[in-house]
Amino acid sequence: MEAALRDTYLDNAATTYPKPETVYRAMDRFARDAGGNPGRSGHHRSLQAGREVLLTREAVAGLLKAGDPSRIVFTKNATEALNIIIQGKLALGGNAVMTSLEHNSVWRPLEAMATRKGVSYSIVSCSPDGALEVSALEDALLPETRLIVCTHASNVTGSLLPLGDIAALAARRGIPLLVDAAQTAGRCELDPEGMGIDYLAFSGHKELFGPQGTGVLYIAPGAEVAPLSYGGTGSRSESSAQPDFLPDRYESGTLNAAGLAGLRAGVGFVMEKGVKKIRLHERELTQRLLDGLAHLSGITVYGPPEWKRRVGVVSFNLAGFTSSELASRLDDAYGICVRSGLHCSPLAHRTIGTLEGGTVRASFSYLSTAEDVDHLIEALGELASTSD
Ligand SMILES: Cc1ncc(COP(=O)(O)O)c(C=O)c1O
Repeated sequence: MEAALRDTYLDNAATTYPKPETVYRAMDRFARDAGGNPGRSGHHRSLQAGREVLLTREAVAGLLKAGDPSRIVFTKNATEALNIIIQGKLALGGNAVMTSLEHNSVWRPLEAMATRKGVSYSIVSCSPDGALEVSALEDALLPETRLIVCTHASNVTGSLLPLGDIAALAARRGIPLLVDAAQTAGRCELDPEGMGIDYLAFSGHKELFGPQGTGVLYIAPGAEVAPLSYGGTGSRSESSAQPDFLPDRYESGTLNAAGLAGLRAGVGFVMEKGVKKIRLHERELTQRLLDGLAHLSGITVYGPPEWKRRVGVVSFNLAGFTSSELASRLDDAYGICVRSGLHCSPLAHRTIGTLEGGTVRASFSYLSTAEDVDHLIEALGELASTSD
């Protein structure tokens, strides 16, 4: 009989797996014990659901050190959060500036706004190892620039951008800043009010350990834009006008309340461990992988060599394999889940010179282990020896 494959999940930059046990339990508990539609009816199940959503809002506000939980808007993912700001802020045209590491969840909405609203946008080039010169960003700003959009960390290179310096530049020039924190929420300290960030968008289902279908948008006081969608909110129902207060202005339709109950448990897990400890754990795993890869022939690793400029996301290629062949072999022969191709970020691949074939990406969460890393290194070692 064939031995069962070890199941190694290293695709946490796409979505974390597994989730902490408390996350599964919170969703199950919500579905069975609450079950009502939050903020809609007056009965106890609706009220209980509303309380769950409020507690999640307060938990996320606590994580971000945001004074007012109503500034935390729930979305279905980071993409929706980014779209609310990109489409709302640029509805009347103008210019936007983004970096060459942005995900398609930034590039495509900007391109759509260019086509539909005559928006112009420029792309600031990052270096082949994923670094951004803030002076290059400053050079790209125009008198009509209405928005700077930048990722906090690239989902391809794992490189961190200098957020403090970017926020200082945006403040100095009086230009609103939208930060895509999809790869850093739960992995790095985020304090939008302390850092002067106007808009912070991220997924709930990555390092915050919530389920898919959850996302967050933080909007600073005074930085509101027009909503992306309009409809029922359970508030001001007598009026045809969308409520103008947060979070209702941006939360039309029934929320993913069971998912948000799971997200609260995920945020609780992150806060209990502490972002510092999570980052340290991912540092150990990343260093272990980088050290292991350095001993294999035919491997090319992308992204910055120093941990200080990285998160737990490592892209690489192995000579003799396309990225999709390699990922398939890792899955089929070893039970290792990694992602291959362009990772929805073709510009980042153009930046690092891998636009044609993409890369294989291994990415960690706090629940990844040293055994997971060793399994990957061992498998790559065997595959490297067959391709010699
Ligand atoms: C940097 C970055 N931005 C945005 C997204 C989109 O996130 P979501 O799938 O939650 O919309 C991702 C997802 O991988 C990402 O890595």
